[in-house]
Amino acid sequence: MKQHCILGIDIGGTGIKGAIVDVDRGVFLDKKKRVSTPQPANNINILKTVNQLINHFDWKGPVGFGFPSVIKNGIALTAANLDKEWINSKIEKTLSKGTGQSCFVLNDADAAGLAEVKFGNIPKRGVVLFLTLGTGIGSALFHNGQLVKNTELGHLRFHHGTAEQFASNGTRKEEDLSWEDWANRLNELAHHINRLFFPDLIILGGGLSKPSRFANFESLLDFPMPFAPSQLQNEAGIIGAAVYAKERLKQMKKGLL
Ligand code: BGC
Repeated sequence: MKQHCILGIDIGGTGIKGAIVDVDRGVFLDKKKRVSTPQPANNINILKTVNQLINHFDWKGPVGFGFPSVIKNGIALTAANLDKEWINSKIEKTLSKGTGQSCFVLNDADAAGLAEVKFGNIPKRGVVLFLTLGTGIGSALFHNGQLVKNTELGHLRFHHGTAEQFASNGTRKEEDLSWEDWANRLNELAHHINRLFFPDLIILGGGLSKPSRFANFESLLDFPMPFAPSQLQNEAGIIGAAVYAKERLKQMKKGLL
């Protein structure tokens, strides 16, 4: 049977959001549900929260997850904004066992970027960099619409720390930066990234891509390349996670995985 609807869950450093996604149309079937990320954000607590979401939607079936970590072959290799217990853990196995459902996991920014390619405003040509501005900075790099997984540009060494410590939305709030001061930091990062990748376009995602919030700093941005806000805004991560699960299911059926 073709799977049209899949539960997508976007795990972030501050919030965990889920919705049942129509993966053919890239829309939610019903209202999304958001809960705060439990602290400590370790294995047991995240599993508990994920199960609450699954029960909320009364969901039985595959689940796609965006997770803020490098994910390779079902294993989480990093954990910048979650408990370090996740590092080197078999995250797909842990989630599948702990929920009783088939779980598929990829990096949260990669998930959001995938959704933008399929249903939003990432063109299928050229080098496009998708950046999520949240608790951290996530990145997803696309060449002609193909994802280069796990780029982690938020972890570039920058100003005695990392790019995300310098310019994430989390840092803007923590340091109580004005929009102007924060936009200047972002501009500096965009110029640095340009020297490394020369992207044709940057798409900015995360909560700040909502038109009402993007308006706070759009005119302050001075990037050396064209840029635009994400079309799917904060929903991209959930939609992309579900789309990824669908792709994995398709590959499994073909015997590729
Ligand atoms: C993590 C990335 C993630 C980004 C956005 C970073 O701290 O290392 O994996 O994509 O935050 O959540």
